[in-house]
Amino acid sequence: MTDTGCLSIIVLGASGDLAKKKTFPALFHLHCQGFIQSHNVHIFGYARSKMSDNDLRDRIHGYLTPCKGFEKTHKENLSKFLQLIKYISGPYDVDEGFVSLDKEICAYEMSKDTTGGPSRRLFYFALPPSVYPSVSKMIKSFCMTKSDVGGWTRIIVEKPFGRDLESAEELSTQIGQLFNESQIYRIDHYLGKELVQNLLVLRFGNRLFLPLWNYANIASVQIVFKEDFGTEGRGGYFDQYGIIRDILQNHLLQVLCLVAMEKPVSLNPEHIRDEKLKVLESMLPIIDEEVVIGQYEGYKDDSTIPKDSNTPTFATVVLRIHNERWDGVPFILKAGKSLNSKEAEIRVQFKDVPGDIFNASKKVGRNELVIRLQPSEAIYMKLTVKEPGLEMKTIQSELDLSYRQRYEDVVIPEAYERLILDTIHGDQQHFVRRDELKAAWEIFTPLLHKIDRKEIRSVSYKPGSRGPIEADKLAEMVGYVQT
Ligand code: NDP
Ligand code: BG6
Repeated sequence: MTDTGCLSIIVLGASGDLAKKKTFPALFHLHCQGFIQSHNVHIFGYARSKMSDNDLRDRIHGYLTPCKGFEKTHKENLSKFLQLIKYISGPYDVDEGFVSLDKEICAYEMSKDTTGGPSRRLFYFALPPSVYPSVSKMIKSFCMTKSDVGGWTRIIVEKPFGRDLESAEELSTQIGQLFNESQIYRIDHYLGKELVQNLLVLRFGNRLFLPLWNYANIASVQIVFKEDFGTEGRGGYFDQYGIIRDILQNHLLQVLCLVAMEKPVSLNPEHIRDEKLKVLESMLPIIDEEVVIGQYEGYKDDSTIPKDSNTPTFATVVLRIHNERWDGVPFILKAGKSLNSKEAEIRVQFKDVPGDIFNASKKVGRNELVIRLQPSEAIYMKLTVKEPGLEMKTIQSELDLSYRQRYEDVVIPEAYERLILDTIHGDQQHFVRRDELKAAWEIFTPLLHKIDRKEIRSVSYKPGSRGPIEADKLAEMVGYVQT
């Protein structure tokens, strides 16, 4: 394997939403920062829509915002980047399309100085999962690297990877017959977020947390995702999946693994993924009493959504890990659309101080470690301190590491940038392995099937609210204390 030679990045589904909003902008920022250079990288867009190269360039142009730190050279970078893009139109299941795609890639590779190294081909599936099997087959048949030594072909696949355990396993088997695990990059963009990546360092690089990180000291862990807008334009997609498949089964569960896992033997991707897998495999079955699902009022006004839809746009689910470290600690996963704010955070709440001496009637507050993934990345620890003044009174305060203040001039990379770069470098640490994916579906599939059969009903909540009141009650019932 090598990091030199011609690199072709092929965005399949180039006419779509993800490609426009995430994939091309991420590639543009990598270009500005010098990771994707015209002398050895070319970008191909592929989809069924009939378009010229310029049509695609015009389509994505408005989304290519200036890369921080490169504002002055934005125009120049933009024009160089757009010149790297070529568009090819073709179907996803017919040989001809992929034969001509291969021809274009080969022509580009031939035009480059082949002494520079072997051919590297990265296929980004910005496509609905229904076409993954046929596209994989086409790539395998016609578009693999032609370099025997040192070249590679890798694919990045998006979520949702299946709808439940059975469909995900079927998809995994179909793709697994064509590509090795080392060629498949299952993207979960939460694993590319700065503060998610910091979890490993925070937990295993600080003596402070080592003795405290367990059931004896931690009362609960909450992992929260909130959006202050609804399904907007994605109603058709969303109604088939719902918030548990869209957010909990992947993004929040991956974060949970990093919070809960044991120290890996090393930073080797397999060592890290081995530890995450153990967490998933130690999970107890979800019980109905520890689930609240909701749907915001007005969700079904979208004409693409059936009037009797039970699809949750909100869910709180309590997960419990049956192992020596976490016995009895509730991991409360909460996600919702159309809520009162847009944020994602982890709240590790510690138990009360035993034998409180400060104020018997008004207990001192609990310690809470909050890791805010977005917006305004921050890590802060809620502490009880003496209120300044003559009296001996306690007050809650914070040790605050706000990234904007502390790292004023540092540009935090977008998750997609980081993950595409990892794929180019062949680093699978921040991607989901097949066995992890299977274990994640095993946890949620029984619950999802009950919801699909309407055995568990979504309660309604007001757009712009905190979500259903039942969810707050559940968190309180399992031990979360509002600090
Ligand atoms: P789109 O619905 O925009 O589809 C992408 C492209 O695929 C379309 O432009 C279309 O291209 C082609 N396509 C659409 N439907 C079909 C179909 N039924 N059969 C064959 N081709 C089809 O999807 P997104 O770009 O929104 O998402 C792509 C992938 O990324 C999906 O797996 C999605 O779940 C995932 N994802 C999307 C996010 C987002 O914000 N959009 C966020 C996270 C993940 P053409 O007709 O020109 O061939
Ligand atoms: C995607 C979901 O995976 O993540 C979307 O499909 C959601 O529904 C998005 O809006 C949120 O990502 P971020 O990075 O904005 O929190």
